Amino acid sequence: MVIAVTGAAGKTGRAVLAALAARGVETRALVRPGQVVEATETVHVDLADASQVATALDGVSAVYVIAPNVHPSEPSLVANVLAADVPRVVYHSVLHPAIEAMPHHWAKARSEELLLASSADWTILQPCAYAQNLQPAPVLQVPYSVDARFAFVDLLDVAFVAARVLTESGHSYATYQLAGPELLSVSDVAALLGARAERVDPNDWYLDTPLRGYARDALGAMFLYYDAHGLPGNASTLATLLAREPTRMSEVLAR
Ligand SMILES: NC(=O)c1ccc[n+]([C@@H]2O[C@H](COP(=O)([O-])OP(=O)(O)OC[C@H]3O[C@@H](n4cnc5c(N)ncnc54)[C@H](OP(=O)(O)O)[C@@H]3O)[C@@H](O)[C@H]2O)c1
Repeated sequence: MVIAVTGAAGKTGRAVLAALAARGVETRALVRPGQVVEATETVHVDLADASQVATALDGVSAVYVIAPNVHPSEPSLVANVLAADVPRVVYHSVLHPAIEAMPHHWAKARSEELLLASSADWTILQPCAYAQNLQPAPVLQVPYSVDARFAFVDLLDVAFVAARVLTESGHSYATYQLAGPELLSVSDVAALLGARAERVDPNDWYLDTPLRGYARDALGAMFLYYDAHGLPGNASTLATLLAREPTRMSEVLAR
């Protein structure tokens, strides 16, 4: 059994590769040239090139599909993976992909549709924002309300579930929401750290990023949505899949 992971050099991909390695599974990491990851095999691929993707996935028993963060053509990248006819496909989506106001969520809803209509044995995972997105600092600065609440999920819990559904039976044609066990604001997280939370103007936040075009617009829409609604979720599905309580933010910060 060889399981392929796309977008494998990103933070999600590396966590999923590690969780698969912990189960003794052989992995094939699909990365862009120049990236080095811990995997049984590494293949260089541009996910936008369907023939490269088909070659890279030849012979694998399953693929974990991680699309690049805020990519302008996520559904077409997912279509390239599906065209390779891998028998088992697990797609890394997002919590509440149906929120049309966030283009990168909506793109994941459109990508989910492709799985539903495919001939693959599929599973969809829908993680909330990772607890690891908030890096400890004296001042936690975000371009949205510091009081908006999120069901931050531990990326290691998500990776454990990904490895589980890729290697165990019983998950065909399921869609799982993966949300953390608490509803926390950035102010709450700052309090856990003994730090301060501060809302910064999105225009100032962008000054520190190289983002342009679709990625910038999508994140701008996300900040507006987060500002008004946060991203709440329910942890019961994750608890069932972990067979324990999901990891709390304080435990992630302590780690
Ligand atoms: N962060 C969260 O809280 C969160 C929550 C739920 C879902 N997600 C979803 O998780 C996914 C992964 O997020 P992430 O933060 O792990 O992303 P990431 O760290 O940016 O990793 C994405 C990887 O994709 C690679 N990549 C970019 N364009 C590519 C292409 N054309 N062909 C092949 N590889 C390409 C990148 O390569 P380079 O390193 O060479 O650029 C990078 O290694 C995203 O779809 C995101 O929406 C994230």
